Amino acid sequence: MLADNARAIACYRRCGFREEGREREAALVDGTWRDDLVMGILAHEHTTQREDPDDVGAGAEQPWVTLAPHYERARGREDSLDRLVEWPPKEVLGDVTGRSVLDVGCGDGSKLVELVRAGARACVGVDVSGHFVGDGGEGGAAAPDPELVQCDLNELESIPGVAGRTFDRVLFLQSFGYATDPVRTLRTARSLLTDDGFVLLTRTHPIRYAVERTELNGTSLGEEYYSTERFSYATGWNDQVRLHKQPSTIADLLTVFSAAGLWVETAVEPQLSDDDRRRHPHKQRWMDTYLGILVFRLRPHPGR
Ligand SMILES: C[S@@+](CC[C@H](N)C(=O)[O-])C[C@H]1O[C@@H](n2cnc3c(N)ncnc32)[C@H](O)[C@@H]1O
Repeated sequence: MLADNARAIACYRRCGFREEGREREAALVDGTWRDDLVMGILAHEHTTQREDPDDVGAGAEQPWVTLAPHYERARGREDSLDRLVEWPPKEVLGDVTGRSVLDVGCGDGSKLVELVRAGARACVGVDVSGHFVGDGGEGGAAAPDPELVQCDLNELESIPGVAGRTFDRVLFLQSFGYATDPVRTLRTARSLLTDDGFVLLTRTHPIRYAVERTELNGTSLGEEYYSTERFSYATGWNDQVRLHKQPSTIADLLTVFSAAGLWVETAVEPQLSDDDRRRHPHKQRWMDTYLGILVFRLRPHPGR
């Protein structure tokens, strides 16, 4: 295609094609010689993309089954954003002593283990990957508490160990984006809450995805932030695995919460501490460009 056809290039990139070369002044258009861009995709890259459930239909292998160990390795780094800004929101969670916690999309379950050590009880973690702490990655329960269950969060109401129970805290830590029907999933979460229970939900700042896509697609921030087209991206944890996301604006998120009968009690955008800023200036530079995450404490709307 013509090398200045930004929209076609963006479309191919979104499908996983990469630039392989440029044929200089190869096309004569309206009397002007223009460059052609050559893009390609290798068979194994195409196969890896097809691991995404959107591409192959329900029941297919989940990208997170492959991705989970890479994510946990990256999360373990001293300068990981998870350590610096994403898990500190436990302050929003408050004291968990004696509280029952359901962690939806719990990863390897280590955050839940931390909460149990801090006094939480009757805790359940659910994740589709099945790579849980202490069980060698085979899936299944690692210990009586927390109970870790390999399941799809889109079937929350029927998950063994969850159905028929209530929890003081329901967490979606960087996992809510995988709900195929976000309102239904949140309504289910709401129905699992005890009388004074709340949902703690974190999401990547929607503007971060928009900025990344402007860089990739050569578009403007407004075009990407307000886009409603699904997009895919190679994760920094393993660039062979692509994840697909539905863009959402902050207004979209608030509308979903409201439709699920929840109101925002607290919303926080965690920042690096002064100390971490000094120790990891590259992370501050990254945050200054791409922003971080949003943390919401959501309470059931009385009477809804
Ligand atoms: C970014 S990680 C966050 C993990 C963990 N909550 C944390 O904060 O470290 C996203 C998690 O969502 C899980 N996930 C993705 N799709 C899921 C689904 N359909 N059902 C359950 N878990 C899912 C992934 O396996 C992964 O562990």
